[in-house]
Amino acid sequence: MAGPRPASDLEKRIVQAADIVTVALDELLPRADGPETRLTEAMRYAALGPGKRLRPFFALETGKMFDLAERPVLRAACALECIHAYSLVHDDLPAMDDDDVRRGRPTVHKQYDEATAILAGDALQTAAFEIMAHPDTHDDGHVRSELVRKLAIASGAKGMAGGQMIDILGVRDDLGAVARMQRLKTGALIAFAFEIPLIIARAKDSERAALMAFAQDLGLAYQIVDDILDAEGDPETMGKATGGKDAAMGKANYVTLLGLDAAKERVALLADQTRSHLEIFGERAEHLRESVDFVLDRRN
Ligand code: IPE
Ligand code: IPE
Ligand code: MG
Ligand code: MG
Ligand code: MG
Repeated sequence: MAGPRPASDLEKRIVQAADIVTVALDELLPRADGPETRLTEAMRYAALGPGKRLRPFFALETGKMFDLAERPVLRAACALECIHAYSLVHDDLPAMDDDDVRRGRPTVHKQYDEATAILAGDALQTAAFEIMAHPDTHDDGHVRSELVRKLAIASGAKGMAGGQMIDILGVRDDLGAVARMQRLKTGALIAFAFEIPLIIARAKDSERAALMAFAQDLGLAYQIVDDILDAEGDPETMGKATGGKDAAMGKANYVTLLGLDAAKERVALLADQTRSHLEIFGERAEHLRESVDFVLDRRN
């Protein structure tokens, strides 16, 4: 009888990066003694749970492409993952998507309570900036302040939080507006993963432009695939509610506007466009090229 398919090199690299990031996050996240232990435990529950750690993986892979030392990229990637974890905790709250399951476990407000979930999100956000601004992240204060500033932009009103606002308000029958929402709510944090090594490497403008174009298209594709999986993914594999929950909540996205088949065609077109931005890097970008396929073919 055939056993499970052996993991590809890419899958092994992703798992290895996720392990490194989880260990680093475990060290970086606060622990407490007093009654505020409830908060630090909820933060740890949210951030250390079984996520894919894809954003840190992108940062680490791109760091290798630029021959960067691992530590600065890893710390910055952990800061980004804290923001991502906070965004999920708040996204799941009753006032937002009202979800009970995340990463195959009760959401933070179900495991703890709503007030604790709000505070855990808040404190994960500030932990991100504490990690990023710490001198251990980079010797050069200018590099640190640029990392802090760009993470703030990617997370805030012109990035993830702004996109979440548009999602909550709802976008009607306008694919351009949906794409803009997706680029903000999901694309901005994914793009920041690639910006970390660009900032640390003080990369040339041509490389920055190409990699940011790649990152933005990848981020949009990532969210369209999430919307496809919301419609047809297996909730066990996804570790969160599916079965057309977005459609049932009246959310506009590529699937609810175009239907599943057309949404999949868009993703395939976007994938070609995404890869084309990597041409200037030649062979150096082979791992990033492979990661596009992973993002698009993912089942969770
Ligand atoms: C989920 O992000 C939210 C979206 C932006 C689609 P991920 O798919 O990266 O979730 P985890 O971190 O692996 O749980
Ligand atoms: C992701 O969008 C939004 C965030 C910025 C957290 P979704 O609401 O579709 O993410 P899931 O499906 O709950 O992971
Ligand atoms: Mg949402
Ligand atoms: Mg959600
Ligand atoms: Mg979703």
